[in-house]
Amino acid sequence: MNQQLLQQRLREPFTGVEVEGLPQAYKGKVRDSFILGEKRIIVTTDRVSAFDSVLGTIPYKGQVLSQLANWWFTKTQDIVGNHLLTELHPNAVLVSEAQPIPIEVVVRAYLTGSSKTALWTLYERGEEGVYGLSLPPGLKKNTKLESPVVTPTTKDESDTPLSETQILEQGLLTDELWSQVKDTALRLFQRGQELAAQAGLILVDTKYEFGLLQGELILIDEIHTPDSSRYWVAGSEENALPLHQDKEVLRLWLVEQGFRGEGKAPAIPDDLALKLAGHYVDTFERLTGQTLEPPKEDLVNILRGVKI
Ligand SMILES: Nc1ncnc2c1ncn2[C@@H]1O[C@H](COP(=O)(O)OP(=O)(O)OP(=O)(O)O)[C@@H](O)[C@H]1O
Ligand SMILES: [Mg+2]
Repeated sequence: MNQQLLQQRLREPFTGVEVEGLPQAYKGKVRDSFILGEKRIIVTTDRVSAFDSVLGTIPYKGQVLSQLANWWFTKTQDIVGNHLLTELHPNAVLVSEAQPIPIEVVVRAYLTGSSKTALWTLYERGEEGVYGLSLPPGLKKNTKLESPVVTPTTKDESDTPLSETQILEQGLLTDELWSQVKDTALRLFQRGQELAAQAGLILVDTKYEFGLLQGELILIDEIHTPDSSRYWVAGSEENALPLHQDKEVLRLWLVEQGFRGEGKAPAIPDDLALKLAGHYVDTFERLTGQTLEPPKEDLVNILRGVKI
């Protein structure tokens, strides 16, 4: 995708849609969902959130997230089923409505991150025990862990870290379902690392959301996108600052401006929005081997015609 298209989208950002005849959208930070009984339409917009606030838009981010998640869904369906039924448009999918399980399942291969639940943040304070982990002292930021670890959090606003013991004692999941979730997440992550490596990238960490569909565990929401994952350029992991291909670039800039989620967020400058767009598009293109093409058909027209 060329710079001109990105610049044009910067001037005309894609922030969402309203469609006559469809129910009022449930607006998440990034996605608008139209819930139609057993199915839902998910429209992924260019909205960007960091530290839990929506801060603006990144050109073509919605399309990258939607199409890249669809690519990963097909590459992992032998491991676990997923919610995808049909790609309606580069920004929109028809999916099965699932009953979400009440935890977010994060898998990490490196000791890194900057948010309050990041393993590095907690390790620095000697608090990685909140995930039921115990790591040797003296490790440096960005160290590769011996093997990937699962660090779940609650799915509510608070994003509270959880240990396996808490998940079971609080009855969030049964023993059997938790074992299945943990095992599935680690297998998905291994597939993610293998395919990322073939594209010259490192899948550093990621977050999965699972749901139940007629009693079966399935993957919902998104998978291995640069919003839900950290990707580093392979070879740069030895640098003091590995080269990021994901949202961490924005988080690091916000922290530099003194913003970690409290008070008024600074506006994202155009050059940063374009740089981020470049990273998102590049991650899509490297992984899939395809060129990101702008949509050919109008989203509202397509959504008006959806037959359930
Ligand atoms: N197949 C599905 N069935 C039910 N819920 C789903 C499905 N796929 C995604 N979701 C939910 O839809 C929402 C997607 O919207 P988005 O990613 O913008 O939300 P968010 O900002 O992560 O969270 P919030 O909705 O709390 O603002 C998430 O809450 C996700 O759990
Ligand atoms: Mg989300």
